[in-house]
Amino acid sequence: MGVKGVVLAGGTGSRLSPLTKVTNKHLLPIYDEPMIYYPLRMLVDAGISDIMVVTGGNSAGDFLKLLGNGEEFGLQQMQYGYQKGAGGIAEALGLTRYFVGNDDVVVVLGDNLLEHSIAGAVDRFREQGGGARVLLKQVHDPERFGVAEIEDDRIARIVEKPTEPRSDLAVIGVYMYDNSVFSFIEGLAPSERGELEITDVNNAYLARGDLRHEVIDGWWTDAGTFESLHHASKLVHRSRFGEDADTA
Ligand code: DAU
Repeated sequence: MGVKGVVLAGGTGSRLSPLTKVTNKHLLPIYDEPMIYYPLRMLVDAGISDIMVVTGGNSAGDFLKLLGNGEEFGLQQMQYGYQKGAGGIAEALGLTRYFVGNDDVVVVLGDNLLEHSIAGAVDRFREQGGGARVLLKQVHDPERFGVAEIEDDRIARIVEKPTEPRSDLAVIGVYMYDNSVFSFIEGLAPSERGELEITDVNNAYLARGDLRHEVIDGWWTDAGTFESLHHASKLVHRSRFGEDADTA
């Protein structure tokens, strides 16, 4: 069985308004490249070459113009999906069902950036033989994320944006699923914020005893707020030019 790749680049980007009033969040620059390049390259670097980008909202057509058939990334072709509205990460993933077919899928959120390759984690996912794999990172502001509580080296619970987090381990926006993800998504109901939540998908795998995890090395950031967008550019600049590079 193969592994397909999905980049989710829908949503409204409302936290970045007015930057996102006329364009799509994932087209905004992170230092010297459009945001979408980073998650896309993450999949390509992990050896995944069959990729779908799901987008929606403002400037959805511009992704075609920017990415074309993916030649710049060494791909032979690229697939596109369209999400009407912003019904959540799990809804956007559900739209890739026919693209993924009977394969497994590695999903990356379009506003997530990592210092290191996910190739090792993808290999371990392939080896685990089914189920799901999530990646965790220690953060200082867990209330912004899905938070994993660990007991006896296993995830005991994931809570989406808890007001009082019981751990500082964020579930980052890179998810690896076997094909049962699509039946889990079908069974979801919208959360209080009116979205199909990826945390509910992960908790469904957890309930079945099929959720593995690993804590990643190196930096990770999202780029969906002014602070994190700015921080992401600084991290990329620093990793290209070193700690002491002049940022003037
Ligand atoms: O960044 C990691 C976090 O991402 C996780 O820790 C959380 O558990 C997860 O819920 C998510 O949290 P956010 O609230 O930050 O997600 P956001 O709404 O910013 O969406 C992240 C990306 O997902 C966005 O850049 C594009 C994609 N997306 C989102 C929505 C709501 C879609 O493609 N369609 C959507 O409808």
